[in-house]
Amino acid sequence: MKIICDKISKNFTVPGGVVRVLEDFSFETQAQDFVCILGPNGCGKSTLLKIIAGIVAPSAGRVVFEGPAYAGVRATLIFPEDGLFPWLNVRDNVSFGLEMKGVPVLERYELARKLMEDMELMKFALCYPHQLSSGMKQKASLIRGLLTDAPVILMDEPDKSLDINSKRIMCEDICRVRDEYRKTVICVTHDVDMALRMAKTILVFGRSPVAVVKKIDMRPFSEMSDKQEYCFLLEKLRGEIQGIIRQEVEKVP
Ligand SMILES: Nc1ncnc2c1ncn2[C@@H]1O[C@H](COP(=O)(O)OP(=O)(O)O)[C@@H](O)[C@H]1O
Ligand SMILES: [Mg+2]
Repeated sequence: MKIICDKISKNFTVPGGVVRVLEDFSFETQAQDFVCILGPNGCGKSTLLKIIAGIVAPSAGRVVFEGPAYAGVRATLIFPEDGLFPWLNVRDNVSFGLEMKGVPVLERYELARKLMEDMELMKFALCYPHQLSSGMKQKASLIRGLLTDAPVILMDEPDKSLDINSKRIMCEDICRVRDEYRKTVICVTHDVDMALRMAKTILVFGRSPVAVVKKIDMRPFSEMSDKQEYCFLLEKLRGEIQGIIRQEVEKVP
């Protein structure tokens, strides 16, 4: 599934004026792309994801999904935190979308079991969210997103509030999703290294109204056979991206 953002604008009316978050924003993913978005706080990353997910309506413009016909909800947004229902255990939380679709209980538990085993969450299937670490909650949210079967997955800072080890595991899980499931993923993160490791396409946003300050196609690099040259290149890109974000953050609005 290809996502096309066609001249999207979004204004919010707030006390004292109007905030222009997006203005004529256009962007197109590839089919089965893995796009990582980086950018300063408050520039409009979450708003863009919500517009693509259909939760927030744009003030102008449209989102088009191009690909095989699909009857269900096309994009599922994985919320950074607290996306789980506190009154449901992990197994019921991750299979909630299937329950809503009317999938019989044994069938949805079986589908959930496979993914919970893959992501090493099976031991906690009967635990409630308050009994889980942040990393486990993120895993559960990711599994719930995958189980909805939507061809587009949107992740808003899946690494938020994770310690360095949980972050590494999360990154491995997401890379597995990238490689095993034929999904189009857009992932917002502040972690440049994570983006360099996961993404097929990196977008660096400037201050709002959002504009893509830099777009990097990572595909040719992942095929490089010279490891030393590859590491050197990643180091160069890391410096470049961090430089752009620093510049954008320091810009006076
Ligand atoms: N529902 C809303 N009402 C008013 N302003 C909003 C609303 N949602 C977001 N904003 C404003 O839009 C801007 C972008 O927010 P957001 O998309 O959350 O940024 P980011 O995810 O990049 O940090 C911010 O200035 C924020 O205050
Ligand atoms: Mg945000």
